[in-house]
Amino acid sequence: MSRVWTKSDWRSKPRVQMPDYPDSAALEAVEARLAKYPPLVFAGESRRLREKLAAASHGEAFLLQGGDCAESFAEFSADTIRETFKVLLQMAVVLTYGAKVPVIKVGRMAGQFAKPRSAPTEAKGGVELPSYRGDIINEMEFTGEARLPDPARMLQAYTQAAASLNLLRAFSTGGFADIHRVHAWTTGFADADKAERYRDLSNRISDALSFMTAAGIRSERMSSMSSVDFYTSHEALLLEYEEALTRVDSTTGQTIAGSGHMLWIGDRTRQPDGAHVDFCRGVINPIGLKCGPSMTRDDLKRLMEALNPANDAGRLTLITRFGAGSVTEHLPRLIETVAAEGANVVWVCDPMHGNTIKSATGYKTRPFERVLAEVREFFAVHRDKGTIPGGVHFEMTGQDVTECTGGVRAVTDEDLSDRYHTACDPRLNASQSLELAFLVAEELSNRREEVRATGGGAS
Ligand code: PEP
Ligand code: CO
Repeated sequence: MSRVWTKSDWRSKPRVQMPDYPDSAALEAVEARLAKYPPLVFAGESRRLREKLAAASHGEAFLLQGGDCAESFAEFSADTIRETFKVLLQMAVVLTYGAKVPVIKVGRMAGQFAKPRSAPTEAKGGVELPSYRGDIINEMEFTGEARLPDPARMLQAYTQAAASLNLLRAFSTGGFADIHRVHAWTTGFADADKAERYRDLSNRISDALSFMTAAGIRSERMSSMSSVDFYTSHEALLLEYEEALTRVDSTTGQTIAGSGHMLWIGDRTRQPDGAHVDFCRGVINPIGLKCGPSMTRDDLKRLMEALNPANDAGRLTLITRFGAGSVTEHLPRLIETVAAEGANVVWVCDPMHGNTIKSATGYKTRPFERVLAEVREFFAVHRDKGTIPGGVHFEMTGQDVTECTGGVRAVTDEDLSDRYHTACDPRLNASQSLELAFLVAEELSNRREEVRATGGGAS
């Protein structure tokens, strides 16, 4: 444990889900170039995010983490980024109202390019090719050439991440002029019975905003609304890319992954002695750890020791993703392990990755009711255990896609083919994302009422 960590130690550990580049000289040339490029994020920013996440671990903030399953080179545009950013901010307003604590906004953006896959190859019409692993690695097109891992794609991913972050930083200081239009956000919900209670909540948000305006507080002056703190995150999957963007912070001597503010380790790459855990344990960024049904007590204990030996609050976020109907079976043992270790973690619900199915029409989809059900179960288990639900993590886009079924503007199995654009997993569209935010806001405000009624906080 006392051994000094270096950014390339992961190379001697077992690795999974990473490509074998056929041309090692080309790979090294790309790594050398990236190593000279500026980092995309700075250590002070990641430290600030850690502090905010520490607050979330105590119930004094709430994490909203969302964006694409996989960003793509083809869909890259200012409009796409702006629409996703806008929906995230709208969700944040709704959540802030429900939680009455600051909402920490983290995009799955500006770096979310590499994908773990359930199978290494894909077969179509008798032809078998390597699976598509995200635009930073290979191409989606079903040809042998497209599916070959190409290290030069890392340079394009870096450029796209830098340009995306540049735009996000500009939007973040530009304020959110749209805030008083909270009513308009729910117009798409009209006619649906269950939309009634969301309209009630949006009325209350609107009233609160009118009150602030009447009291002379203009939205441009409300500092948290005229400039937003927005952070980026992605799965630290392609370790050659991550290592090449690792930098030493000149003021503290600490090592930071310069590719994004927060990194997470996927459910398929979280082997306690594996390459991905080894890389992440040495960088100071806040780390997310996906926890699926196969996570044992012992795995979690070892992972917490490896990733957060000093038990710093805000360092480690556990992102649970079990699937609707399975949360009660799996979450309690993780909560008990965390309690037994006295560990500081932020509990976050990813209601997407345990709820993927194949639709009758052959599309990979997620029934929206199951997404909502998993969120409810997450809150219910934390209520039973007296622990703190610290955030949500999900896949969404600001575009009006038809990738997940259901929602108040019901997307049916037959509709999936209309606007199915994802480069990987099905995402919530703008309307479904907002509906999710209203549900979470309700859960959060119920929780506040209960805490108030019982006269205390959670243990
Ligand atoms: C993801 O977040 O896109 C993902 C692949 O998740 P998980 O590792 O939880 O399956
Ligand atoms: Co995904």
